[in-house]
Amino acid sequence: MSALLEVDGVSRRFGGLYALRDVSFSVGEGEIVGLIGPNGAGKTTCFNVVSGTLAPSTGTVRFKGHQIAGLKPSAIVALGLARTFQATTVFPTATVLENVMRGAFARTPVSPLASLFNTGAARAGLAASEERCARLLERLGLAPFRHQPAGELPYGHQRRLGVAIALAAQPQLLMLDEPVAGLNPEESAEMGRLIRDLHETEKVTVLLVEHHMRLVMGICHRIVVLDHGEKIAEGLPAEIRSDRSVIEAYLGTEEEA
Ligand SMILES: Nc1ncnc2c1ncn2[C@@H]1O[C@H](COP(=O)(O)OP(=O)(O)OP(=O)(O)O)[C@@H](O)[C@H]1O
Ligand SMILES: [Mg+2]
Repeated sequence: MSALLEVDGVSRRFGGLYALRDVSFSVGEGEIVGLIGPNGAGKTTCFNVVSGTLAPSTGTVRFKGHQIAGLKPSAIVALGLARTFQATTVFPTATVLENVMRGAFARTPVSPLASLFNTGAARAGLAASEERCARLLERLGLAPFRHQPAGELPYGHQRRLGVAIALAAQPQLLMLDEPVAGLNPEESAEMGRLIRDLHETEKVTVLLVEHHMRLVMGICHRIVVLDHGEKIAEGLPAEIRSDRSVIEAYLGTEEEA
């Protein structure tokens, strides 16, 4: 299995605090990899560095062999890497379909000149991407709501819309930051099935940040564990479940709480 994503020796400091310290791991094409760790472990910072929202203080990130650390998020999306956000980030007044179209444009923007002159190519491009987005909404069970303002959707649907927006960019690597946070058990199980299903049918590689351990253990092929910005373990779900340092990291946070 070739590595699609390689994070190598990445550190990120905020003042005196290392949110990430010398973190290395890779994600192979076709894998579902879990990135877990207690609150404040550095998971979202890692996503921010990989997706271009933050530059690393040191270290390199390669995606499909390209060095991407420090590139703009839009350039990284164009290479085929899309993410969702820990907090729901839909445009509340835009419709569900418009929100997903925004994700599609993140990957293949219509050139401003072409759209200004409303050329045939621009119209055809728009129609094709609208059709693809409509299919995606169908796939995610959001089609009945496509003309509703996204802000009016129930929370669970908004989380799924976040996944749809990322998928609209047709990523090879989909990075999900706590996709089931705030969802009820039924919605969480449904999201788990959806991730597994997308992985199987769309052949999308997944990097999953989640606190929901049953979901992580159930769908991930491999797990990387961060604690206080450092990688403390990496392995198969069964290995991680019984790893002493991982258990201590989680127990430690319970005691602190
Ligand atoms: N922009 C920032 N400025 C200063 N400190 C930050 C910033 N972003 C993150 N941090 C700090 O970096 C550390 C790691 O935060 P991060 O959000 O990456 O953790 P996390 O593993 O995603 O946690 P959670 O599970 O709670 O989402 C924390 O101590 C956090 O306070
Ligand atoms: Mg986080």
